[in-house]
Amino acid sequence: MIRQILFSAIFGAATLTEAAATPLYLNDDADIEARVEDALNRMTLEEKVGLLHAQSKFSSRGVSRLGIPEVWCTDGPHGIRAEVKWDEWDQAGWTNDSCVAFPALTCLAATWNPDMAMAYGQAIGEEARYRKKTVLLGPGVNMYRSPLCGRNFEYMGEDPYLASVMVVPYVQGVQSNGVAACVKHYALNNQEDWRDAVNVVVDDRTLHEIYLPAFKAAVCDGGAWAIMGGYNLYNNEHCCHNQVLLNDILKHDWGFDGVVISDWAGVHDTREAAHKGIDMEFGTWTDGLKNGKKNAYDDYYMADPYIRFLRTGELSHKELDDKARRVLRLIMRTEMNRKRPYGSFSSPEHYAAARRIGDEGIVLLQNKGNLLPIDRNKASRILVVGENAVKMMTVGGGSSSLKVQREITPLEGIMAACPGCAVDFERGYVGDTGGEYNGVVSGQNLNETRTASQLIADAVAKAKGADYVIFFGGLNKADHQDAEGSDRLGMALPYHQDDVIEALAKANPNFIVVNISGNGVEMPWINKVPAVLQGWYVGSEAGEALADVIFGDVNPSGRLPMTFYATLNQCSAHSVGQFPGVWRDNEKIQDCNYAEGLLTGYRWIDAKKLKPLFPFGHGLSYTTFSYSKPKVNSGSMTADGSVEITVDVTNTGSREGAEVVQLYLADVKSSVPRPVKELKGFRKVHLNPGQTATVTFKVTEDMLRFYDDKAGEWRSEPGKFEAHIGSSSTDIKGKTDFNLL
Ligand code: BGC
Repeated sequence: MIRQILFSAIFGAATLTEAAATPLYLNDDADIEARVEDALNRMTLEEKVGLLHAQSKFSSRGVSRLGIPEVWCTDGPHGIRAEVKWDEWDQAGWTNDSCVAFPALTCLAATWNPDMAMAYGQAIGEEARYRKKTVLLGPGVNMYRSPLCGRNFEYMGEDPYLASVMVVPYVQGVQSNGVAACVKHYALNNQEDWRDAVNVVVDDRTLHEIYLPAFKAAVCDGGAWAIMGGYNLYNNEHCCHNQVLLNDILKHDWGFDGVVISDWAGVHDTREAAHKGIDMEFGTWTDGLKNGKKNAYDDYYMADPYIRFLRTGELSHKELDDKARRVLRLIMRTEMNRKRPYGSFSSPEHYAAARRIGDEGIVLLQNKGNLLPIDRNKASRILVVGENAVKMMTVGGGSSSLKVQREITPLEGIMAACPGCAVDFERGYVGDTGGEYNGVVSGQNLNETRTASQLIADAVAKAKGADYVIFFGGLNKADHQDAEGSDRLGMALPYHQDDVIEALAKANPNFIVVNISGNGVEMPWINKVPAVLQGWYVGSEAGEALADVIFGDVNPSGRLPMTFYATLNQCSAHSVGQFPGVWRDNEKIQDCNYAEGLLTGYRWIDAKKLKPLFPFGHGLSYTTFSYSKPKVNSGSMTADGSVEITVDVTNTGSREGAEVVQLYLADVKSSVPRPVKELKGFRKVHLNPGQTATVTFKVTEDMLRFYDDKAGEWRSEPGKFEAHIGSSSTDIKGKTDFNLL
């Protein structure tokens, strides 16, 4: 009613009876498209342009005259970023914006469980909604092309199928709150160094088969309402105004009706922006801002310069209307949807979701002699070593940095999980003592005065008397580690951690290494360390989830979503010498030629018959599983038919556990080169001791296709296909085959 009265005041309506005729765009029972058109028809040119660019670091204008609200964005993708000042990156200093940090997306992908992605999306969406955000800047689904990419921890691994299956429920969960997911960074944004200058050269098949499927799934199956253009270039055009990626593929072929949001400062030209697919511009440093002028957002490429071109007729109103229409649609779906829930923040349910996802994502890489889990009754003295046992990992790493209500460190988690144990700590090495990002401080004092050799000697001395030694190391969120804006300098563990690990392995046979990272690392000591866990970045509940697995309260069921290479040269991008790329003569553009083509990750490992450190899909359990021989229900299928592959999986151990049954398909003979095999299905099955589950995969023709770059379409070829059933990409338990007629 208040709105109606205001509306009538603005439009001079004389009586309340007239005011009661609610404008269509305010009536959220009506069809969204009709509401969008109604609103658009009432707007001036300036109001339309006003929708298309930032007014502050994270918000854009609505149309106050018409009661159309602003759009508020937030990072993403692991928790809701602290409020920042209107025009600066520094946190605003609110006292009610401390969030729950969910596990990093690599950990989510490692669950191989779409239910976990739904739980994640719902929970983070509720946090975003509570904080009154319109758009969550996430999830990220750039493919893991090199273990050196600083931002891999924000993505979902190396395989397009796995990332596609996992991204859809995340998007749906977020959007069930009336908050838009903004899938990023579209596309080919697979390295951080010189990210504004890298021009990716990639063939069409590789683009469509490897780098686009997860984005396509997010849009076509997940119904994402927003997508973020990457910083890099493709086809010599920046991804934020890119004819092929945005207009031809995203909006035309995939029918995307949402909003393309620029990455912050990703727009470089007004005319290009008008023509080539971007709808909203955020974060660009204009001259006005460089000169110190505050609130120079009207100088953005898609602000006053756009208005000038529209007035002179150089740019068309048709393009403008299309962009404004998309932003209005976004607003109707979110801010003007009065039926959306209210959200909740830092709730017990969100902590529980974070812990569950962490529990399921942690990967047991190696467990010789069944050293893990630790039996509380036999462990009176535990020595914990390593900076990552005590360092908060939610602060730092770039835009995904968070201000959390709490973060349980691994050391705290171990101590809480084993109250009867004497738990001691030794630093072991000094890595990154920083703990500040945009004014958010961890508050930890990690200063250390001992020398490197003294730190090792002190750790070894204590290790000798301990029942178990647990080392928490890996990477962190500092530059050149797992962080936005810079890539890693190599694949080895930094800060001489290998020396610490070697020394501890000699000192105590009951030695466990927990690698905290979003990337694979070299493990030259792998044969000397009995037990190794991949601990990712688990967020608020890190210590609790890690302790759950270490003490066996949770049976690990995570599987690697990327290959862990033994050496960097096993990674195809590096093997072909194409990372990070080569500067052109003008030194403004760096071409990165994806010469490895389709053969990324395990596809390269298969083709070259390499032995990785740990293969894609690998992960152990505290129980064991046996597989029957896979069967196919028919030797052939027609293009509109299907076959069913079945396999029985039995828990042959003495405790409950979950196995991830993986289906890889191989085209035996093809007119084009195809990977040896590709993941096309997986199922996580929970089994009690002795229990058997029959897992059935339905194979349809679309799963057998490749992208025909000459015809510009997906197609399959008749002939023989093999179905490989495995518990990783190299541990194939059995095969069967069928013909496509
Ligand atoms: C990042 C985006 C992020 C944006 C806003 C950019 O630097 O690449 O992922 O959402 O900043 O913080």
